Amino acid sequence: MKHFLSLANLSSKEMHMLINKGIAIKKGHSKFSNKLRGKTLILLFDEPSLRTRISFEAGMLQLGGHAITYHLSESTIGKKEAPKDFAHVISRYVDLMMARIYNHETLVEITKNSKIPVINGMTNLEHPCQVLADLMTMYEKKGKLKGLKLAYVGDGLNNTTHSLLYGCSKSGVDVSVGCPKQMMPDSKVLAKAKEFAKTHGSKVHVTASASEAVSGADIIYTDSWMSYHVPHNQEKSRRKILMPYQVNRQLMKHAPKALFMHCLPAKRGAEVTDGVIDSKASIVYDQAENRLHAQKALMLWLMKK
Ligand code: CP
Repeated sequence: MKHFLSLANLSSKEMHMLINKGIAIKKGHSKFSNKLRGKTLILLFDEPSLRTRISFEAGMLQLGGHAITYHLSESTIGKKEAPKDFAHVISRYVDLMMARIYNHETLVEITKNSKIPVINGMTNLEHPCQVLADLMTMYEKKGKLKGLKLAYVGDGLNNTTHSLLYGCSKSGVDVSVGCPKQMMPDSKVLAKAKEFAKTHGSKVHVTASASEAVSGADIIYTDSWMSYHVPHNQEKSRRKILMPYQVNRQLMKHAPKALFMHCLPAKRGAEVTDGVIDSKASIVYDQAENRLHAQKALMLWLMKK
C-alpha cells in the first residue's frame, strides 16, 4: 500500500506520471467521474484551511466518492486516544485519509498503523500536495521542468520550502533559497535535496541575499511570513527580519521574465506587494486551481484506479 507523506519518497517517474495525470483530468474530468464511487475520504485538520479542505472535498465528490471533514479540536486524538488507536479505528470506516497535522512525527505514527493510504495535507516539515500542484503549474506554463530555475525567498524554515527543495531537485529544477540566516531550511532536508540534485542534474543553493537568489530565475516563489503555527506576538519581529525578502517590483527586476508563485494565503504588503501578486507575472490562482486536479490524480493513484 502506498502513502503520500513526502516528495522525498516519490520517484521522479512517479512525480511526472502524477503531473501528466493531473493535466489529463483537468482537460477531461468527466471521464473520471465514477472512478471512486462508493469510496470515502476522511480529512483531518488541526489547522485552518481553504484550498486543502475545499479542493479535497470537491475533488473526491467529482470522482464519485464522499468526503468527511473532521477537526482535531473536536476529536479524541492526542487527548483520550493514541494516534495508533485512531489509525486502526479509522481504517475500519473509510478508504483514504488526508491529514493536516502540525507534528510530522504524529502523522508518521498514524501512517505506520493505518490500513488505508494516508496523504500529508501539511505538517511542520512538509507540504507535498502543494508542491505537486506547483510542479504541474510550472510544467503547464513553461512546457518543461528540467533546466528551470526556481527562487524561493522569505522564511526558509518552512514546510513548503522543504517540499519545493525535494520536488524541484528531483525534477531537474535548480532551486535557490534566499532567506535570513536564522530561517534557513532544515539541515537534514537540505542535505537530502542536495543528494537528489546530484542524481537528477539540478542545483540547490542557499544564500542570505534575496537579489542573488532571484537573479535569472524562471520562477520567484514566496510563502507567508506568519505560517499557521507562528504566534501572533512574533509578527512585528519577523516582519523586520523578513522585509528585505519581500517580493516587490524592485526584486522582480532581477529576473524580468520570471513568473510569480505563492501557495496562498498571502498577506499583501508583507511577503508580496499588490503590484506583484496582481501583475501579469502572477500565476497564484492557477496554482490554487491545480491543487484540485493534481490531488485527484494522487487519490486515483493511491486507490490504484
Ligand atoms: N496552500 C494551502 O495549503 O492553503 P490552505 O492553508 O488554505 O489549505
